[in-house]
Amino acid sequence: MTYILGIESSCDDTSAAVIVNNRVLSNIIANQSVHSSYGGVVPELASRAHQQNIIPVVDVALKEANIRKNQLSAIAFTRGPGLLGSLLVGTSFTKSFALALDIPIIEVDHLKAHILAHFLDDGSGSDSPDFPFLCLTVSGGHTQIVKVSSPSDMEIIGSTIDDAAGEAFDKAAKIMSLPYPGGPEIDKLAKIGDPFAFKFPKPRMQNLDYSFSGLKTSFLYFLRDRIKNDEGFIEKNKADLAASIQRTIIEILMDKLQKAVKETGIKEVAIAGGVSANSGLRNKITEMANDRGWKVHIPAFKFTTDNAAMIAIAGYFKYLDKEFSNQSVTPYARSDFKNSK
Ligand code: KG4
Ligand code: ZN
Repeated sequence: MTYILGIESSCDDTSAAVIVNNRVLSNIIANQSVHSSYGGVVPELASRAHQQNIIPVVDVALKEANIRKNQLSAIAFTRGPGLLGSLLVGTSFTKSFALALDIPIIEVDHLKAHILAHFLDDGSGSDSPDFPFLCLTVSGGHTQIVKVSSPSDMEIIGSTIDDAAGEAFDKAAKIMSLPYPGGPEIDKLAKIGDPFAFKFPKPRMQNLDYSFSGLKTSFLYFLRDRIKNDEGFIEKNKADLAASIQRTIIEILMDKLQKAVKETGIKEVAIAGGVSANSGLRNKITEMANDRGWKVHIPAFKFTTDNAAMIAIAGYFKYLDKEFSNQSVTPYARSDFKNSK
């Protein structure tokens, strides 16, 4: 039995989880409400909140898992990418706790962990993907199509050249004066809106890469023009605007995923990351999978946004390979998980 404690502190959620082999025993997340009044994450406030949260969160994770700290086999932590100040809190905590317990530490790349969350067993009985599979990773900071050949062999075959899909949701929401983070707000409104009420241009990119900055700009200019004639335009059309921008983002995402399936011949497909919580995206990929004979893997909601269970499972795979870090490890803000092209 391998007990791994996972620690995630890359952005504004402090999370700790305990898994035994690949089974989740606890997954505790402390959200930081302090950022909402600023309309985005304030890095300095985030690291302070992580400092306050980390010990209580780990304590609850161990209690809920019903294990003692000296039963832990190793501690896995997010080394990056993310906010440096925030990452430092998780990294420093991991190092000192592991030193005291005399157990190994395992650095984890946050983006790979989002993908490996598909291998967590939470008792729901859903089956994990077979290798190789394609994973569309869509979060607040990244948008990638990854060819996953094994837990340690991942190749990025497409990625965004500017904004991430989550940023596109968040920025569109901000333009509409919806609260932060905007993704879930757009998702909610989109359910009661007409997705074809408004049309926005899609980028023309040749390869498997994405671009979302043009969409944001055209959304901004479109609304600026409409507001000139009708101040209440956004309020009156909130649901239709949300549904239309969501449909456009999903179409952009799915066009390239479809192309990736065609080019690689891999029909085993997964989605991961915060935006994979989006109900429109979940419906669309399911529908597409049925039409085209893909096998699709959609993560449980609790494993879509940032959580430490995904860090723990990524750590577990490295534990099996005895891939440990040493005490001199420092966080990185940008991923070492590079575009392979
Ligand atoms: O993976 P994540 O929790 O953090 C990063 O690693 O970035 O992703 C956060 C992103 C935010 O942009 C948030 O708006 C988006 O995921 N998100 C959603 C939904 N839930 C979270 N976007 C669209 N629809 C949702 N239901
Ligand atoms: Zn994330």
